Amino acid sequence: MPLTPNTELDLLFPDSLISGDVKRALHQDLHIRPLASTDYNRGHLSVLSVLTEISDPGEAAWKAQFDALRAFPETYYVVVILDRATDKIFGVGTLVVERKFTRGLGKVGHIEDIAVDKAQQGKKIGLRIINALTYISETLGCYKTILNCSESNLIIYPRLIDLRRKLAFYEKCGFEKKECEMVYQV
Ligand code: ACO
Repeated sequence: MPLTPNTELDLLFPDSLISGDVKRALHQDLHIRPLASTDYNRGHLSVLSVLTEISDPGEAAWKAQFDALRAFPETYYVVVILDRATDKIFGVGTLVVERKFTRGLGKVGHIEDIAVDKAQQGKKIGLRIINALTYISETLGCYKTILNCSESNLIIYPRLIDLRRKLAFYEKCGFEKKECEMVYQV
């Protein structure tokens, strides 16, 4: 199935926020764009399953969640990378923009839920997603962009994910380790 053109899709945010540099750097077989309201059918949840346990809520509930994200203006930015030949999602990542009362009413970008289909890992898809999200964060005026790579994933996928290797990935994406995170687990 050929790739669905962006013009036919109902996107989470404007395609103009996707970096031209990232588009040009992508392998010709791949395409990057904002999440679309029909991406439930393009393997969105399947890709996320490399990150954590996924329970499929069904298409209607997935679409309701998409609409809920879009109802918050200038807050949720989910990007996907697709295979042009199959129109299937190979990679996904999210930027959440936090508005602050500090830093002159500044904004901070939080990168979340980076996932690349297991069979496609090691082909720079993760790097392109991080670059795209960082570009959006900077374009929106965020004074910093942060992420944390949760050690809890080590328990769920002890063979797939190794924290030291994941740190190496983010360092190659231009991020550095700083401070630490505390979690109150419910
Ligand atoms: N160990 C060391 N280096 C790595 C690793 C690794 N595990 N993964 C990638 N790299 C390096 C690559 O070699 C490459 O380096 P190079 O530029 O010198 O060649 C660079 O990092 C970019 O790698 P990509 O090919 O872009 O990585 P990939 O597409 O495989 O994506 C990711 C990496 C996202 C960690 C992927 O392996 C994945 O989905 N893992 C499972 C889910 C996960 O852990 N997600 C992150 C959760 S934390 C969060 O979302 C904030």
